[in-house]
Order: sequence, then C-alpha cells, then structure tokens
Amino acid sequence: MIKQNVQDIINKQIQAEMYSAYLYLGMAVWCNDQNLNGAAQWFKLQAKEEMAHAMRFYKFLEETNSQIVLKAIDPPPAKWGNLLNVFEDAYKHEQKVTGMIYEIVNLANKEGDHATASMCKWFVDEQVEEEAQTLEIVNQIKMLGDSKGSLFMLDRQLGKRE
Ligand SMILES: [Fe+2]
Ligand SMILES: [Fe+2]
Repeated sequence: MIKQNVQDIINKQIQAEMYSAYLYLGMAVWCNDQNLNGAAQWFKLQAKEEMAHAMRFYKFLEETNSQIVLKAIDPPPAKWGNLLNVFEDAYKHEQKVTGMIYEIVNLANKEGDHATASMCKWFVDEQVEEEAQTLEIVNQIKMLGDSKGSLFMLDRQLGKRE
C-alpha cells in the first residue's frame, strides 16, 4: 500500500513526464520549422522516451493498487532564438526533473516506502544519462560557432539517433 502523499507525488510526476514529452515535441516543431530535421527527429525520439517514463510511473501505481489521477498538461513554449537555446533549455529541464525525482526518493525514504524508493532507482540512473547527453550536445553546439556548414553536419548527426 502506497501512502496517499507518495501516490500524489507520483501522479504529479506522471504529469511532469508528459509535460517533458510535450516540451520536446514543441522543440521538434521549432526545429522542423528551421529546417533542422535531424534535431527535430532527435527531439521526437526524446518525447517518446518521456512518454515511456510517464507509463513507467503509471504502471507502478497500477501494480500497487494506487489511484491514478491524470492532470492537465501546460502547452510548451513555441519560440527559441537558436538551436543552442533549445538544447540549453532541454538541459535545464532535465536538471529540474532530476530534482523532482530526488524529491520522490526523499519522501519515499521518509515514509519508509521501500517499493517506491526502489522503483525510483532506475530514474535516478536515467537522469544522469539524460543530463549528460543534453549537456554534451550543448557543448558541441558551442564549439560550432557561427559556421552554417558545421551546424548542418551536427543536424545530420542528431538525425542518426535511433
Ligand atoms: Fe523523463
Ligand atoms: Fe528526460
């Protein structure tokens, strides 16, 4: 039995993961509009992963006979200055999500809820990876400078993500 306050924070996380998907889809739309189709493809795949994250929390609530409560999802931003800003925002967002995951772990520990703490371990590791991969791209874009040719190459490389 998962305590009500823990159920509540997990339901909030389902919303946050769905918002992450929405945010990355918004970034995909912006990239497509800028003819950065490789980056758009990268964000579409990222959005898919975020939906899978939401479903992981969903399944946990289901398995523990908890109440699933779906909340409204805010629209994402639609405008960015350039591709660097997009990936900087993605990196900042992943850092924020890491903080949210840590809050769930802290609450689970406080409540002696080992099941929730254990389930969150996967997410703790996943966030390390997500932060690392977005920061790596931020740093790559910073190295490009103003060269259109290298931006084109990076876009192609991003489009190869599977
Ligand atoms: Fe996520
Ligand atoms: Fe993420």
